Amino acid sequence: MEVVINKKEILDELAAKEIIELVKRKPNANLGLATGSSPVGLYEKLITDHKVNKTNYKFVKTFNLDEYIGIPIDHEQSYHTFMYKVLFKHLNINLKNTNFPKQDDPKSYTVLLKNNPIDLQILGIGSNGHIAFNEPGTSFDSTTQYVDLAESTIKDNSRFFDSIDDVPKKAVTMSLKDIMMAEKIILLAFGKNKAEAINQLVNGEKTEDCPATILQTHPNLTLFIDEDAASLL
Ligand code: GLP
Repeated sequence: MEVVINKKEILDELAAKEIIELVKRKPNANLGLATGSSPVGLYEKLITDHKVNKTNYKFVKTFNLDEYIGIPIDHEQSYHTFMYKVLFKHLNINLKNTNFPKQDDPKSYTVLLKNNPIDLQILGIGSNGHIAFNEPGTSFDSTTQYVDLAESTIKDNSRFFDSIDDVPKKAVTMSLKDIMMAEKIILLAFGKNKAEAINQLVNGEKTEDCPATILQTHPNLTLFIDEDAASLL
């Protein structure tokens, strides 16, 4: 794995450049995308580039990592809505080419991903080491599935809801195995509350107690992390 430590602004720029170069080289690229606050700066860079340089997303397909269960996909805090607001509506992307794991049919995502291998996967990481919504204890062999969110994830994500009681307790997530199939992975992590999870990922043993440690054996993984997230390395 490659670890790049720099200021967030610079890392957002570098990550955006990777996507832009890929889309220019391969106009029908399959992009794996993440929600959460970590990729928002990168998405802003893509939007600016699209406005200025007209990078074309018409033939790109996107595959998001996860979605809540228990709220409709048009809910203001659903990941469908989040992606539309922070990225999709600003690019010339065909919404028919944007994909999420299905709330009523999780298994179909694994088949879809087999038929559409991801060229570049953008990832965040939970403070407890989760990736997508694969919480600690998830089997490394599981397939796209329903999951119960960890207490710490519900707490972390409550900042987006009026109260912690409004945070869904369940989700549907791309599996660890599916994530590992991506040709290239860029993981973004910023801030002190990610330091422990990043330290586990880089220096810890590979264990289902910290789902992100599965990435240790990915052949093409780059971590883009700031000084705070790197502070325990
Ligand atoms: C959520 C998402 C994850 C994301 C994580 C970190 O739980 N399901 O995919 O990586 O949040 O979020 P943030 O980037 O806001 O710290």
